[in-house]
Amino acid sequence: MKAVIPAAGFGTRFLPATKSQPKEMLPVFDKPTIQYVVEEAVASGIDDILIVTGRGKRSIEDHFDRSMELEATLKNADKCDRLKIVQDITGLADICYVRQREQNGLGDAIACAEKHIGSEPFAVLLGDSITKGPTPCTKQLIDVYNKYQKSAISLEAVPQDKIERYGIIKGSSVENNIYKIDKLVEKPPADKAPSNLAIMGRYVLTPDIFDKIRETEAGVGGEIQLTDALQKLDAIYGVAFEGKTYDIGNRLEWLKTSIEFAMASEDGDELRQYLKTFID
Ligand code: G1P
Repeated sequence: MKAVIPAAGFGTRFLPATKSQPKEMLPVFDKPTIQYVVEEAVASGIDDILIVTGRGKRSIEDHFDRSMELEATLKNADKCDRLKIVQDITGLADICYVRQREQNGLGDAIACAEKHIGSEPFAVLLGDSITKGPTPCTKQLIDVYNKYQKSAISLEAVPQDKIERYGIIKGSSVENNIYKIDKLVEKPPADKAPSNLAIMGRYVLTPDIFDKIRETEAGVGGEIQLTDALQKLDAIYGVAFEGKTYDIGNRLEWLKTSIEFAMASEDGDELRQYLKTFID
């Protein structure tokens, strides 16, 4: 299976940090967000990845490309551990790029992948969110796709005040953690939402989604919404992801995630001591 990582958005929620750098390159602790996303795809058994970029996103390509000068410098300085970190990035997967020429929504970004994907099911991992769980989120979706042979998307229950940030579903439980979805609404107001189960940025889609995107008219924000195209599929399953999704496009969520990841690192004790000085 191939994966598509949409990474073309402006990141307006995170200005000014994202004025001249892609939000997907913002580091969470010591690693750019998009590297976590590529690593999730690889951990789910995928090594052919298409990243949908746009203007101003070239540093994403540089990050996954070789850096001969840096490698030579690290080698000469005998910094083998640093050299390994740099070389491992390049070896992660085969990565190709396509540019979304104008910002016209997530549905339109996925449409840019049609030629690369062809007529096979494929995974979609949003480039500005990270997941953590006992089994990679995308792998959980692939397993559900293999069982039902239908598109599958990741879900998480969100609090009322966050509902309007997400696509929200209505569905019925078919087995533990798995829902058959009847309805999807992009960013509804909390009082009109059909549930509190939100679409969390991981999808395994059947290739007929490309026809459905073509049939989809502009929705919320005047853009082609993937959520509206998903509604047109004959069947779709939702998986209440066993784990946690971190939304890096939101500055406070990004900061919390960085702290959480740093806490789990070898620097965790020092950070804990430092944070204690702020808390009564
Ligand atoms: C997109 C999707 C939305 C989903 C969200 C998850 O919205 O359109 O359905 O819930 O990602 O992060 P965006 O965050 O790009 O506005």
